[in-house]
Amino acid sequence: MIRPDPGGGNRGIRNRSWRQRESDPGTAPVFSLRGAGVRFGATWALEGVDLEVGAGERVALVGPSGAGKTTLLSLLNGSRRPTAGRVAVLGRDLATVRPSELRHLQRRVGTVHQQHHLVGPLRVVHNVNAGRLGEWSLLEAVRSLISPTDVAAAEAALARVGIAEKLYERTDTLSGGQQQRVALARVLVQRPVAILGDEPISSLDPARAEEVMQLLAGLAGDAGRALVVSLHAVEHALRHCNRLVGLRQGRLVFDAAAAEVTPVMVEELYRIDQSTDEHGEGAA
Ligand SMILES: Nc1ncnc2c1ncn2[C@@H]1O[C@H](COP(=O)(O)OP(=O)(O)OP(=O)(O)O)[C@@H](O)[C@H]1O
Ligand SMILES: [Mg+2]
Repeated sequence: MIRPDPGGGNRGIRNRSWRQRESDPGTAPVFSLRGAGVRFGATWALEGVDLEVGAGERVALVGPSGAGKTTLLSLLNGSRRPTAGRVAVLGRDLATVRPSELRHLQRRVGTVHQQHHLVGPLRVVHNVNAGRLGEWSLLEAVRSLISPTDVAAAEAALARVGIAEKLYERTDTLSGGQQQRVALARVLVQRPVAILGDEPISSLDPARAEEVMQLLAGLAGDAGRALVVSLHAVEHALRHCNRLVGLRQGRLVFDAAAAEVTPVMVEELYRIDQSTDEHGEGAA
């Protein structure tokens, strides 16, 4: 799990541009957090988190409501800056990279949410292509709305998530599970090195939830992407992820291979502590 320091005193690696360095497989973990913390007012939502996630890993973030799962995901995709510690993506510290590199790295990390943030009245192809907006010029983006640009990439992404035939359908005519697939396709056209999911299955029925989890795990397997997903259902985490990270009151309480997670560890993680004012809600 722990990889050598990407710079590592290797002048050859250090002297190359960040784009070249990023394309080197295996030189840096996808995510690396050192002593990362986030404070909201007087409260630490996350504190002292050390975590490394490598290519191809499927990591579930589990823990009671308010444990800091969403906050951790927001550090990984760079939408929030840590109050303490450092966060690196592909070996690049998000606090010190140039704004252009920060945007580039953020585009390589795709995030799916419980709410898909799709535009219902638009055709599916436009919602998928929205994943490209960060790399397109304004002119290309506007042109794409009038006549879809790069339909082939959108179609390939939809094929990968099993709904290629929906390309020109109005998005709001699709079922919840199909819309979650459109959201996944939108992430895929970003050519992500990592996919983050914040409770991506919590609004789906059990059968659809299982399908989407299988899909997410498969997408992580393609091209050695990393998957980091917050889940309330520990059984999904155990079935589809190879590593579980348990968070409680903003602290990492375990980081273990799925096969090593015991019922006692899960019970302890979700234990309702009467003596504190924490927000534990019981195991899923
Ligand atoms: N924008 C914010 N401002 C103030 N406090 C916040 C903010 N976002 C999160 N918090 C607090 O930080 C802590 C962690 O919240 P977070 O949303 O990361 O938990 P979570 O594990 O994702 O919970 P859930 O399972 O309910 O989604 C909570 O105490 C929460 O109230
Ligand atoms: Mg959350």
